[in-house]
Amino acid sequence: TNAVLAVEPVCTHAGCTVDWQKDQKVFNCGCHGSVFGPDGSVKRAPANKPLKTYQAKIEGDTVLVKA
Ligand code: FES
Repeated sequence: TNAVLAVEPVCTHAGCTVDWQKDQKVFNCGCHGSVFGPDGSVKRAPANKPLKTYQAKIEGDTVLVKA
């Protein structure tokens, strides 16, 4: 099994949905311009709290998320 990190794509600033930018490997929030790293950490304000993350693992074709 492979451990991965599941990131909830909800901006911690005002709750907009963030978009994964696979070229830059960041999550972008279109509402006010916050940027988050692949681990959910804040790269650019106005958000000041990281995205919520969950421990997850891959078993075969299934991704199991620990809530
Ligand atoms: Fe994402 Fe404001 S809701 S930057």
